[in-house]
Amino acid sequence: MHFTNRIALITGAGSELGIGFSTAKELSRRGATVILADINEEGVNHTAKKIQETGGKAFPVALDVTKLQDVKRMTKEINEKYGQIDILINNAGISRPTKVTEITEEEWNLIFDINMKGVFFLTQAVLPYMIAQKYGRIVNLSSVSGKRGGGVFGGAHYSASKAGVTGFSKAVAREMAQYGITCNTVAPGLIGGTNITGGLLTEEKKEQIQKEIPLGRIGQVKDVAYAITFLVSDEAGYITGEELDVNGGSHID
Ligand SMILES: NC(=O)c1ccc[n+]([C@@H]2O[C@H](COP(=O)([O-])OP(=O)(O)OC[C@H]3O[C@@H](n4cnc5c(N)ncnc54)[C@H](O)[C@@H]3O)[C@@H](O)[C@H]2O)c1
Repeated sequence: MHFTNRIALITGAGSELGIGFSTAKELSRRGATVILADINEEGVNHTAKKIQETGGKAFPVALDVTKLQDVKRMTKEINEKYGQIDILINNAGISRPTKVTEITEEEWNLIFDINMKGVFFLTQAVLPYMIAQKYGRIVNLSSVSGKRGGGVFGGAHYSASKAGVTGFSKAVAREMAQYGITCNTVAPGLIGGTNITGGLLTEEKKEQIQKEIPLGRIGQVKDVAYAITFLVSDEAGYITGEELDVNGGSHID
């Protein structure tokens, strides 16, 4: 799979430990120009620099995915600079391990604004460019939590938002197929080492969870990055509206 001359926009790529950065590295290694967008400006400057140091073409953007005008301005600027936007990876997301009886309206809105509305804003903003070029690859990050009813570190609001991402992606897939645009989701199980677990993944917890995973280990960011890379490749052009599980067999449906 080669990505030479492809322009890829990846949200939530400002953490060196996260899935977004791992995916950006993989695409860059295969020739893509990667635009890394994250609310953490310092973080995204750092991750872009890391890729540049290996000879990759990476550019950081400080962006809050919940701010529609900023999202629109950024996609316009990318299109003006490169003349195309080929790949969108909606990876920015947050989680809170709050019990359903204790979720406040404020926390519900926070989760939905970032995990769902952000995905909608970014998708809507890139689509005019993808439609014009009659090519596009979109991958949205859902989660095993949205499928099995709750996650280890996510509450009911997180599960609901991720199930929503799946439904949204399927509708976009159906509507946009006529323009050569595919839209899929990747649903990771528990991935170790990222910040989303908020430091709650202790060694003891890890051991306990591992026992429930048929492949016998917690997932790594690379496992997810490879799945995303495949779905945004030219080679995956006949796959759309699909959800790809990356969970070691912990949930099979
Ligand atoms: N790690 C897991 O176990 C796991 C499992 C299933 C799904 N996922 C999903 O994968 C995606 C990446 O998760 P991760 O584990 O790498 O998380 P992470 O916390 O390491 O990275 C998420 C990134 O999103 C950024 N972000 C947060 N709010 C933002 C906003 N408003 N605008 C722009 N950027 C924002 C953060 O700054 C951070 O860099 C998320 O959507 C998450 O829900 C993760």
